[in-house]
Amino acid sequence: MGVVSSKTELAKMHPSDIGAGFHRSWYPVCLAATLTAETVIGLEFLGERVVVWRDPAGKPAVQTAWCPHLGADLSLGKIVEGRLRCPYHHWSFEAGGACTNIPTGDKIPSAARLFSYPTVEAWGLVWAYNGEQADVAPPVLPDAEEDALHFETIERGERPWDTWVATSNGVDFQHLRTLHGLPGNSMPETLEVEAGAIEFTSESPFHLQHGRITGTNVFAQHLRLGGVDMFQMFAGTPVGPRRSRGFVVVGVPKGQAARLPEVRAMVERLSEEDAPVLSTIRFRRGLLTASDRHLARYFKYVEEFPTFLPPL
Ligand code: FES
Ligand SMILES: [Fe+2]
Repeated sequence: MGVVSSKTELAKMHPSDIGAGFHRSWYPVCLAATLTAETVIGLEFLGERVVVWRDPAGKPAVQTAWCPHLGADLSLGKIVEGRLRCPYHHWSFEAGGACTNIPTGDKIPSAARLFSYPTVEAWGLVWAYNGEQADVAPPVLPDAEEDALHFETIERGERPWDTWVATSNGVDFQHLRTLHGLPGNSMPETLEVEAGAIEFTSESPFHLQHGRITGTNVFAQHLRLGGVDMFQMFAGTPVGPRRSRGFVVVGVPKGQAARLPEVRAMVERLSEEDAPVLSTIRFRRGLLTASDRHLARYFKYVEEFPTFLPPL
């Protein structure tokens, strides 16, 4: 393994710094429950600003926030007759991005469109895909369908780190013992790397861990400890270089709702232990040793991950 990473390698890991956009991945935008029918939300997202609202069928729309007329912030607008109306001169836009009305009656320019991210609603979150079309499926929790779990989705606010660095936690098996003080040495034999995702299983007579990374910003796992099943998903969205917004989903099988606070407490503890390190780390792909082999594979996956820069 190399000694110190080259600047090129680091640039590939921080694509937003070199103007190449962010990774082509599904990003959590907001809690689905906060986006009611008449709400228009403005948010920082992938180094830009987006507007988030629901179309008349209830499907979330996530679009560039800048009006193509003169650049007003559309999050100050209103939903009128199922379309988003700019606050300034009342141009109106459909969820697909097309401008369908200019009140003066002037001809609508063909370029009068908002870039619209593909969206989906899952696990209590509105997700947007950073691309023209989604080429991978939205994140899942291993071994669980949404309707088979009792789960809670929590917004964790803004944090001073890159999402792909936080996601490396999921395959940093050493730190489970050293930082979190968890017993044993449970490292999977191999990581299965597919397009846009990494999956692994580690098992002993005492535990099962089925983990999955989707994109470079979501780590989800099914844990069985002492015969008890729990589900966790850590998802983040870059808002800019070294700044991200975090969400977590905690779940238990339906019928075991009383156990949810215990799963939540575990997640809170792990997050509190990770936070001081993640918020101060000056990341480098440094001196990796044999026990870091899964981490090294993850870093290669990040370096090779495709990026996208929306035409805003
Ligand atoms: S700036 Fe939006 S309609 Fe003029
Ligand atoms: Fe951790």
